[in-house]
Amino acid sequence: MRSFLNVEDLGDLKQALGEAAEIKADRFKYDTLGKNKTLLMVFFNNSLRTRLSTQKAAMNLGMNVIVLDVNAGAWKLETERGVIMDGDKSEHLLEAIPVMGSYCDVIGIRSFAGLTDREYDYAETVYHQFLRYSGKPVFAMETATVHPLQAFADLITISEYSGCSGHSRNSGKPKVVLTWAPHPKSLPQAVPNSFAQWMNAADVDFVITHPEGYELDPRFVGNARVEYDQKKAFEGADFIYAKNWSCPGVTRPEAYGKILHDYHQMMHWTVDAEHMGWTNNAHFMHCLPVRRGMIVTDDVIEAPSSLVIPEAANREISATVVLKRILQSL
Ligand code: CP
Repeated sequence: MRSFLNVEDLGDLKQALGEAAEIKADRFKYDTLGKNKTLLMVFFNNSLRTRLSTQKAAMNLGMNVIVLDVNAGAWKLETERGVIMDGDKSEHLLEAIPVMGSYCDVIGIRSFAGLTDREYDYAETVYHQFLRYSGKPVFAMETATVHPLQAFADLITISEYSGCSGHSRNSGKPKVVLTWAPHPKSLPQAVPNSFAQWMNAADVDFVITHPEGYELDPRFVGNARVEYDQKKAFEGADFIYAKNWSCPGVTRPEAYGKILHDYHQMMHWTVDAEHMGWTNNAHFMHCLPVRRGMIVTDDVIEAPSSLVIPEAANREISATVVLKRILQSL
């Protein structure tokens, strides 16, 4: 595997989930696969879970790890071509990338959306520059539009807990609902995009709910049912996956990356006990970090049915499977 950005990159999902179960049973089973191989993790943005879980995954496989925080100690990087670099950016990404590639065997990239230029963000420009100019396999640690390591961990978690929560009364498959929730800042669409993409590829009954104007890109929505009435969407749900995202610019191109309403007016979208009461005793999920009182109330996130900690723990498993696949293809 030379690139990990989308669910298709992993091939058969059942097989991938089988590998995840194998790793979970013995996470050091492949502890010599990465001997004398080096992972470089490049962070253009902050991280807690991705940083720790991916580093742990690499260590499970016997790899060496180098971490570069681009905004903390490295030269400030120019990413655009054709500019006269007379400002505060001392190095161009197009030199920096092959240099980085010369020190490692695999590269992980975290580079969030700028949320000002939809075309630039959705082209995954930075990720593809790394893929093209590093000469090394590259994987997304949340890029402009996707967060596949998170979505894979979410799917592993849903698969593990599907037997515990009962199933949708209608189809026999677990009903999974992705719900928008309020937030004071503009956030990217990477997590909901990938979650939607992976749920569409999985054997679940998938529904997306959000206020009008927050429609996700159709290539990620796929065959999911979109329900603007949050209560109707929650009815019979086995898993509630909450997340905020800014306007994806699908139905409102001029508002790309913006918050469409003052969040004070949207607090009825916060997932609280009343919302969870509409469901089939659903599990609550969120990728973290989460703002309590905005996305979810204390009682819901602290309830025994909340899966936020197990899904974060499964980030180590998803990253181990992905790195194992990459190492096996070197
Ligand atoms: N969920 C997630 O990616 O967390 P971090 O931003 O802390 O890595």
